[in-house]
Amino acid sequence: METLTLTRPDDWHLHLRDGEVLKAVLPHTVRQFARAIVMPNLKPPVRTVAEAAAYRDRILAAIPAGQQFEPLMTLYLTDNTRPEEIVTAREAQFVKAVKYYPAGATTNSDAGVTDIGKCDRVFEAMEQADMPLLLHGEVTDPAVDIFDREKVFIEKHLIPLKQRFPQLRVVLEHITTSEAVDYVLATDRTAATITPQHLLYSRNALFQGGLRPHYFCLPILKRETHRQAILRAATSGNPKFFLGTDSAPHSRHSKESACGCAGCFSALHALELYAEAFESVNALDKLEAFASFYGPDFYQLPRNRDRITLSKTTWRIPDQLPFVDDGLVPLRAGEALTWKALLN
Ligand code: DOR
Ligand code: ZN
Repeated sequence: METLTLTRPDDWHLHLRDGEVLKAVLPHTVRQFARAIVMPNLKPPVRTVAEAAAYRDRILAAIPAGQQFEPLMTLYLTDNTRPEEIVTAREAQFVKAVKYYPAGATTNSDAGVTDIGKCDRVFEAMEQADMPLLLHGEVTDPAVDIFDREKVFIEKHLIPLKQRFPQLRVVLEHITTSEAVDYVLATDRTAATITPQHLLYSRNALFQGGLRPHYFCLPILKRETHRQAILRAATSGNPKFFLGTDSAPHSRHSKESACGCAGCFSALHALELYAEAFESVNALDKLEAFASFYGPDFYQLPRNRDRITLSKTTWRIPDQLPFVDDGLVPLRAGEALTWKALLN
């Protein structure tokens, strides 16, 4: 049997939600990942250190008995975030980053930032505290084509931001374009996470034989040349690029709707999907560092010590998983996958 053994990975961009949904999805992540950067876009969002502490406790309480998992918390930046909150966050230790959502960009982003220029005092505090800023890097201007929103964000907002705060450590999250790859490569103290869906699919997947809502996420899938650019970046061995699934659970009915939610659920089989993407360009030897080394190095945390094994086994991804009062449809549901994580 062909197998691949890696240092246990971490997920540097994850949506766990709360309550019953948290209990339904967390066991999937815990099976593969030791730690995860947990997104704060709850309703209401996680805006303060006190709210992050309470959310962290709810996550810890939902870890299945006998399993190990460390949630790494983030704060949701708003127009009203105070610089003092950053100082408190730094002292609290368990808050690892601050997340910027442009207001209205995506799921639960209504309370996000309306004008990035309004947050300069917070960015100054973050730069001083060496607190990373995680960016949902898209403009929300409805006049900008949805496929250009990442590129325009970089030009209009990110380049000026890094000129104002060159020491600020930034993660451009879930990158989807060659422009994002080029920007990250050219800019100090800047890294990027990459999702499995953006490595494996171009925007054609959204329309293959009909409308495919389970391939809809934000930033939206881009054209094939961009997919190839981010696949090259992920498999290049450059430590600026590391794993972040952006696994984002939505019930089947909220995806299969006249106005479906954005988000792909990949926590079930994330590592296998990444293995397939790396294998497609003969780069399986680069998977371990992407999945397990470069993330902790960026966040200045120790690398994990235990290991996980994948075997070359073809299996069928379930059509749906049990989920609160409805089903949860995983990425590529009902189709085959050729790697399987051996879970202990
Ligand atoms: O597709 C997405 N889903 N993109 C995001 O930015 C948010 C996420 C979610 O929370 O569902
Ligand atoms: Zn996300």
